[in-house]
Amino acid sequence: MPRFIGALDTGTTSTRFIIFDDEGTPYATHQIEFAQSYPFAGWHEQNPKEIIESAHTCINGAVAEFVKKGYKASDIEAIGITNQRETTLVWDSVTGKPLYNAIAWPDTRTSRLVHAFKAKPGADKVFHLSGLPLSTYPSALKLVWLLYNVPEVAEAHKNGTLCFGTVDTWLVYNLTGKKKYVTDSTNASRTMFLNINTLQYEDFLIDFFGVRGVLFPELICSADDSAFGVIEEGANVLAGVRICSCLGDQSAALVGQKAFEVGMGKNTYGTGLFLLYNTGTKPVFSKNGLLTTVAYNFKGAAPVYALEGSIAVGGSAIKFLRDNLKLIDDSDEVGQLAAAVPDAGGVVFVTAFSGLFAPYWIDDAQGTIYGITNYTTREHIARATIEATCYQTRAVLDAMQKDSGYELKALKVDGGMSNSDVCMQIQADVIGIDVVRPSYRETTALGAAIAAGLAIGVWSGLDDLEKVNKKGETTFSSVITEKKKEKMYSLWQRAVERCAGWVQV
Ligand code: G3P
Repeated sequence: MPRFIGALDTGTTSTRFIIFDDEGTPYATHQIEFAQSYPFAGWHEQNPKEIIESAHTCINGAVAEFVKKGYKASDIEAIGITNQRETTLVWDSVTGKPLYNAIAWPDTRTSRLVHAFKAKPGADKVFHLSGLPLSTYPSALKLVWLLYNVPEVAEAHKNGTLCFGTVDTWLVYNLTGKKKYVTDSTNASRTMFLNINTLQYEDFLIDFFGVRGVLFPELICSADDSAFGVIEEGANVLAGVRICSCLGDQSAALVGQKAFEVGMGKNTYGTGLFLLYNTGTKPVFSKNGLLTTVAYNFKGAAPVYALEGSIAVGGSAIKFLRDNLKLIDDSDEVGQLAAAVPDAGGVVFVTAFSGLFAPYWIDDAQGTIYGITNYTTREHIARATIEATCYQTRAVLDAMQKDSGYELKALKVDGGMSNSDVCMQIQADVIGIDVVRPSYRETTALGAAIAAGLAIGVWSGLDDLEKVNKKGETTFSSVITEKKKEKMYSLWQRAVERCAGWVQV
């Protein structure tokens, strides 16, 4: 009889729960989207209660499917959690009730605060302490905005009852009936309150952002058999089951791809795109616009770090074509449209809906479409949208190469857009190296399951993961000339130079 572990994956736009066996084979899945709210240009919020409800619904749905296949809920030994990072929640420690909506990671309402804090004495220390450049992306300035703008948040701060947390903390807090107020270092390393060298909260950063007196979750390892607690009675069908891992989703994908050696990396095509590159047990600081982050931190072993190239807009640009422009009915159609034309017809779409993240860090960049003529069709726009994600991947790869001095031979990929052959072919063309796609691509959830399984001894160690995610892979190789590749990329670079500084009146 196989051993079973569940993985709860709460991404930016949807939650899923997948039940895996000890070879990483999925047995049952349930997934639902949850609402996104964009109250003003640049704002992006989510309902904290809906996030929790989506978790219960997905757990109950997947377990029901599992039971239909002849297994019992009690066969699931533990669950692991993985989540969208940086998204910021605040609640009251007495009532446990949220004090505002979750401010999602792509939200740019803090862009003025970014400029103000960049001018503050001490701003030059922030990058080497936190691993992150001052920008709208991490949690820190989202929390500052909440303290300045939401009276209930300021009041709770004054009373000493203001709990801050990222999505992992909110999930564990609610799943355990408010018994555990914890976070793991992969998630904490995205808040800008963690010292990336010591993996402890950093007093300098707490004071720099003026958030002393806010309650912060206890820091624990990413995989631990007891520190995360158990699902509370009555919460869902897995009441009593241990939570044994928690990792930010990009770290989890690195684990799911088994990129455990220095120099191994992956690119995950989710709502955004996130390229992580394992740098081993010491933090490496980029000189080329990349972030230093915790890759994973398993109990009993040294924490492992990664360099990260975060690209804010990936799958969300396809969602934009579907929901805002109504250019397609279904996300899958974008590949068919793009394949119907040989190129983007001179169109370049800089999908800078949240400014531009790595390696550019242009806070005031705006989404811009260049090169439209009467010749332009929706096929060209679709292709230019895909190309935007691929060009940004190229920019991040170039930065990684400069930082590491190491030329990547192939790019391992996973996540939603990686399912599209057209998209992966364009990616291979744009970067000129092979793109390698595993047959199982829910690596984020798989990574959380692997971490939980390691914590409870389903696998004795990393060497014991041989059979996991080992089925076939597909390789995409470039089919365009070097000259064409560079010409396309230089057009993109020119477009990026022009998209900054648009001021809204
Ligand atoms: O840093 C944001 C990231 O964690 C979001 O991931 O999968 O929702 O794009 P995803």
